[in-house]
Amino acid sequence: MIQAPKGTYDVLPREAERRGILEAHVQRIFGGAGYRRIETPAFEATELFARGVGASTDIVQKEMYSFDDGGGRSLTLRPEGTAPICRAYIEHGMHKLPLPVKFWYFGSYFRAEQPQKGRYRQFWQVGAEVIGAGAPETDAEIILLLAELLEAMGVKGTRLRLASLGTPETRVEYRDELTAYLRAHESELSEEVRARIDLNPMRAFDSSDRGTQVVMADAPKLLDRLDPEDAEHFEQVRTLLDVAGIPYEVDPTLVRGLDYYTRTLFEFTSDALGAQSGVGGGGRYDRLIEQLGGQPTPGIGFAAGAERILLAGAEQPIAPDPVDLLVVVANREDRIAGVAGFELAREARRAGLAAQFELSGRSLKGALKHADRIHARYVAIVNDPQSATLKDMESGDQRELETAGVIATILRGSRLA
Ligand code: HAM
Repeated sequence: MIQAPKGTYDVLPREAERRGILEAHVQRIFGGAGYRRIETPAFEATELFARGVGASTDIVQKEMYSFDDGGGRSLTLRPEGTAPICRAYIEHGMHKLPLPVKFWYFGSYFRAEQPQKGRYRQFWQVGAEVIGAGAPETDAEIILLLAELLEAMGVKGTRLRLASLGTPETRVEYRDELTAYLRAHESELSEEVRARIDLNPMRAFDSSDRGTQVVMADAPKLLDRLDPEDAEHFEQVRTLLDVAGIPYEVDPTLVRGLDYYTRTLFEFTSDALGAQSGVGGGGRYDRLIEQLGGQPTPGIGFAAGAERILLAGAEQPIAPDPVDLLVVVANREDRIAGVAGFELAREARRAGLAAQFELSGRSLKGALKHADRIHARYVAIVNDPQSATLKDMESGDQRELETAGVIATILRGSRLA
């Protein structure tokens, strides 16, 4: 028995329908605000993520599916969408377009993580990116639209955490200060945090180790070290969220596993999820485009896990697809009647009806039962190439017609009795 690989799952039709609803909400909410869809390849040059996401991040160090393309180049299944979209922005010279450019996306991403509820090796993200706008209104807009999407999907128990990372320069100074602080408390820290003091001291805020948490409660906070302009930007984002009535908590310990962030950083969590409570998050990345070889250009965006939205979201009522007509051939042995029936279904579809041809070889009785099950409005029983019995499944009325007249009769909605 061959099974789906660990950490992957099949999207069966019922789930596909819920995803369709999610996608329709994204299209409505983001499309309505002037965002347009973009999709980039499922794999990219490994270098893009090493440079974009950051060589010291868990994603790049441990979670990438990388492979040789056969010609000595390393490719990687995309673990995230922001670096690829910035790559596409540069590659297609989109700086010549009226700025900002606003994108949304909905696709699958890959991370070699330990699977658990809400965490997969192939997962789907919906996301949005705004490139070429640095104003704080952009930050507030992105957060607002994500909040609206989560609300539309009925995601329960959401909490928004907000922070600012300032500039990379501020961060370097702060990092030195934090590293010194951690060194001074080294013996109280967990083994894992101690091992990463130099590589990634910020991760200490993320630790679940009690001793580390006690030390971190008194650690210097980056939010208290921001440049005046960064602090003002953050203030303005907060004011806009306040006015919009979006509740949030400022969390100076908020860290996210990607290196490209500058200034605003945010994350939505949901109580309805287990340990993997992050529904979606993002932030500003004002240096990323330049880092990837483009002109200095500000950017901001978010991504949210489709599985987590669906897990934490409300069951949405799904109406079955309507079936206008089911075509059944009375005598399966009659191959010419079979052709006539098959043609009738095809022409009905061309005329705009939702029409199905009965493919299973069921008996006539079984076919009528099936018609009930799929809520077919009409059944056409093809008796011979020229004639069919058209049955109205609601009233039970039926009439014998020329096969050629079936579609017109349905379209006219004539009574059959
Ligand atoms: P991220 O926080 O790494 O950000 O991922 C965003 C969301 O994807 C998470 O909040 C989570 O819902 C979902 N997610 C991540 N990993 C998994 C997984 N293994 N299984 C299931 N769901 C997962 C980014 O990817 C950034 N590109 C977001 C961004 C866009 N920042 C700026 N623009």
